[in-house]
Parts: sequence; structure tokens; C-alpha cells
Amino acid sequence: MKKLFRISVVVLAFTGLLAGCGGDAGKKEESGVKAGIAKADWGQVDGAPVYLYTLTNKEGVQVKISNYGGTVTSWIAPDKNGNKSSIVVGFDSLSGYLAKPPYFGAIIGRYGNRIANGQFKIGSDAYKLATNDGKNHLHGGNKGFDKVVWTGTVISDSIPTLILTYLSKDGEEGYPGNLKVIVKYTLTDDDELKIEYTADTDKPTPVNLTNHSYFNLSGDVANTIENHGLQIDAANYTPVDSTLITTGEIKPVAGTPFDFTVKQKIGGRINDVPGGYDHNYVLNKKGDSTQLQLAAILSDSLSGRSLEVYTTEPGLQFYSGNFLDGTFTAANGSKINKHTALCLETQHFPDSPNKIEFPTTILKPGEKYHTFTTYKLVLGKQ
Ligand code: BGC
Repeated sequence: MKKLFRISVVVLAFTGLLAGCGGDAGKKEESGVKAGIAKADWGQVDGAPVYLYTLTNKEGVQVKISNYGGTVTSWIAPDKNGNKSSIVVGFDSLSGYLAKPPYFGAIIGRYGNRIANGQFKIGSDAYKLATNDGKNHLHGGNKGFDKVVWTGTVISDSIPTLILTYLSKDGEEGYPGNLKVIVKYTLTDDDELKIEYTADTDKPTPVNLTNHSYFNLSGDVANTIENHGLQIDAANYTPVDSTLITTGEIKPVAGTPFDFTVKQKIGGRINDVPGGYDHNYVLNKKGDSTQLQLAAILSDSLSGRSLEVYTTEPGLQFYSGNFLDGTFTAANGSKINKHTALCLETQHFPDSPNKIEFPTTILKPGEKYHTFTTYKLVLGKQ
């Protein structure tokens, strides 16, 4: 079902919103910065060297990525006053990540989100996965792709591009088949972080890859994300049960607190959603569904920053940081508390291997898994 496809056109799903915004604050000036990638030693895990790559574009925007978990550790950009800070939550050292934060910035796999009871069938073959979220399987299990050391290769300096590869062996966390995974991160001069995911397998297996960056556009988790604005191009979502497993239903957001079809303040109705937002949105697909489409716009008036999310995926998990509880402290010293950061995870729908009615996530030998997601930071649009 997954085909190899190329991106040539960006379909702007809600063009109206994009047009007419901006103004002088959005204009860029030549910074004179040289784009490139720097690689620094960052420690070792299980005897394998860990590095921190710093991708810098010609505007001086920097994204730091480690080959431990393929983790985006920071994304430093100016706010409307020219002050620089990171729009994602992360740590300055590897030890922060070894303390097992809840997937900060990491690549998630082999399967993003939950698989009910950690089990599924492919044809008549039943599989049992590691269960690491009560009775369910979450984000790839006990040692998902967020906790392994990837092999990093810098492939371009002028448009900083980092390739990360990982071989997930047959039986890892209970999954069938050797899965070869390639994740390509590119930082463009337009402040886009492009992520391209590719995989192939030698046995049928579920695959659902995503990135688990936690955003706070203000650059400081001392500010709640309840004041951020959010628009999601989705008329429907997938309801969940009390263990956050999708029920299999696809329901309209209209008339519910899940409706973000027009921009809403996140905190406006969050108390009407028990536990907060942690739901998969069924993206409205227009035209060729293999093309990148604008899925969501996050905005923050404090910093003047906005973030546009484009994807080829059918779903988007909006997670409002409900389980953040102050256990972890951000690089700037602020405690990472409930609703101080949020995730916009592009994906197939949770528990698809057990939900025949959802688009399939089974990758078969001979097929290519190939998806694209772009996070684009914009100054001057709130
Ligand atoms: C899930 C949450 C989970 C979190 C872990 C999100 O993607 O939807 O339920 O608690 O990841 O940090």
C-alpha cells in the first residue's frame, strides 16, 4: 500500500490562512552565516559512539540532532525581538536522555503510538510485542528506536542534511522481520526541518514512524502551551478508550472540544477533554495523498513564532503534554510541567494492526515505506 513517491508540489490545504499573513516581521535579512553541519562527540551507549550534529542554515537557525534515538535536542531560532531560544524541549547532554524522558525529540518506531494488548495478527500468524504502557505496547516497546544508537552520515553541508540508519532485527521488541530504516533530516534556509522516512523489510511487519518533538514556541517551558493557537486540517478524529486505545470509530470534530478546523486557543476547551488532548486527527486529504499537505499550524503571540506542519501521512497525534509532571528540567533550568510542551506527531492511526477499518500499516517484503514530514518555523504570523 505504501508506494515510493516523490514530492514535487506542496499542496497548501488551507491556502487562505497562509495568504495575507506575515508582513515585515516575516522578512529575513542576510545573516552572513555559513550553513553547514558540525559533529561533536557526545558520549557512548552500549559501547557505540554517540554524536551531536549541529545543523546551521544561512539564517543562523540551528537544529541539533543526536544519533542516539535520532533525537532533535534543540531548534534555536530568533523570536520577534531577535532573542534566540529553542522551540523544542531537550537537554544539553546525553545523560538527560539516558534518564528516559518521555521520548523528547526522538524518532519513534517500529510503531508510533499504541498497539492494544501488545498483540496483532498478520494473516494467521499471531505476534506478541513488549508491553510498556500498562497492558499495551507504546512507541516501539521497552527499547524502541528512541533508545538505540543510529549510524549518522552527513550528506550535504550547503543544505545541511543528515542521514541516520538503523537495522531493527527480526524479533526486536516482538516485531517480525529485519527492518532497514533510513531517516533523513534536512534544515533548509527557509527554516524548514524536513524529515524523510524510508524502510524496507524481509517479512510483513507493522511500521509507523514519527518524530516526538515537544514544542513550546515561546522558547521557555515556564510558559504554558495553553496560550498557543492551533489549527488542524481535520474534520474527524479517532476516539479512544480509557487506556488510550482507538475504538475503531472515526468521528466528526464538529461541535466538540476537538474541533481545531479554525484556529483555537489550546487552553480554551482543554478542561472539557478528560486528561487533555492525546488524540489522533484524521487529516483532510486533498488531491494526491502522496504529496505533502499542510496539516496544522501552531502559533504563539508571545514570541511571534508559528510552526506549520506538512505531511504525507493520514493522521496527526495532538498530545498536549498531559503526563509531563516536573520530573525533568529543560536545558534553560525551567521545570517541564503538565501542558508546557506539546507534540504534533504525523502518523498512521494508532492500533491500526488491530483495526481493519483503518489504513493499513503492514509493510511487505518488496515494498518501500516512504513518508515525508516538514516542520516549518515562521516568524511574524500568529
Ligand atoms: C502519546 C501519549 C504518551 C506520550 C509519551 C504520545 O505520543 O500519545 O499518550 O503518553 O506520547 O510521551
